[in-house]
Amino acid sequence: MATYTGREADPGNQRAAGRGDRMQVIIRPTAEEASWLVARMIGKCLKAKPDLVLGLATGATMERLYALLVKLHLSDGLDFSLCRTFNLDEYVGLPADSPYSYRHYMKTHLFDHVNLDPRNTHLPDGMAKDLGAECVRYEETIKRSGGVDLQLLGLGKVGHIGFNEPLSALYSRTREKALTPATIAENSRMFKDPAEMPRRAITMGVGTILEGREMIMLVTGTAKAEILAKAVEGPITSMITASAIQLHPDCVVVADEEAASKLQAREYYHWVFDNEPEWTEYRKK
Ligand code: F6R
Repeated sequence: MATYTGREADPGNQRAAGRGDRMQVIIRPTAEEASWLVARMIGKCLKAKPDLVLGLATGATMERLYALLVKLHLSDGLDFSLCRTFNLDEYVGLPADSPYSYRHYMKTHLFDHVNLDPRNTHLPDGMAKDLGAECVRYEETIKRSGGVDLQLLGLGKVGHIGFNEPLSALYSRTREKALTPATIAENSRMFKDPAEMPRRAITMGVGTILEGREMIMLVTGTAKAEILAKAVEGPITSMITASAIQLHPDCVVVADEEAASKLQAREYYHWVFDNEPEWTEYRKK
């Protein structure tokens, strides 16, 4: 991961030669250690650029990470006062105060526990009368903020990033998207009455996500091992939208041993973390 340098927006992801130009996979022994590494990487970026534009994800994997960011705020004074956040997605038809909305999730796990200014936290409005116009507004708000500096991603079992379900165009922008039966089955477990889970969401597009200057994907648990191997080491395909991260010039995938268990080049990924100078500070406990 390159140290955040405050570089200008780079919509075509055309970096100067010698900068970025790679995806890295970092493997940590446990989900806790993988999450700690990501929390520290985010903390470093935020210290280097206090008004960081941070792209956020939701889901079970992120809960541990957000708890650690709260810890860094409370124990080390990590300052979010100027940070601006943009979430990847929100369900269509759920009001912000619904216990199942992603706004509610973010408040519960992060926003209410750090010194983020609520006016600087953005999620698509899934209750908007004109959802198409809401998607355009969301994209414009991201652009006006200067673009996402650091995009955080999880990995869905269907291989999605955000809610970019299979066959989402790799150039897609923020839009309304029908969720797959697999995603509905996976996420409806969070709802008291699974039938209440919305069937549609607004999600940043794959193209929108790829415009983030730096990207960190956090993946934990055995259930993700197969799809992680396909996303990272398999061909780039709109059937697995997470595979599009291979096109990004500055992306780090942080996985625990369980999630990494089916990666072919695990030995090399371990070597990188154990030897490359940019990881030295993170090797210290
Ligand atoms: C939600 C999002 C999704 C999740 C993914 C993994 O905002 O971006 O892509 O990151 O579905 O979810 P968990 O961690 O629950 O397996």
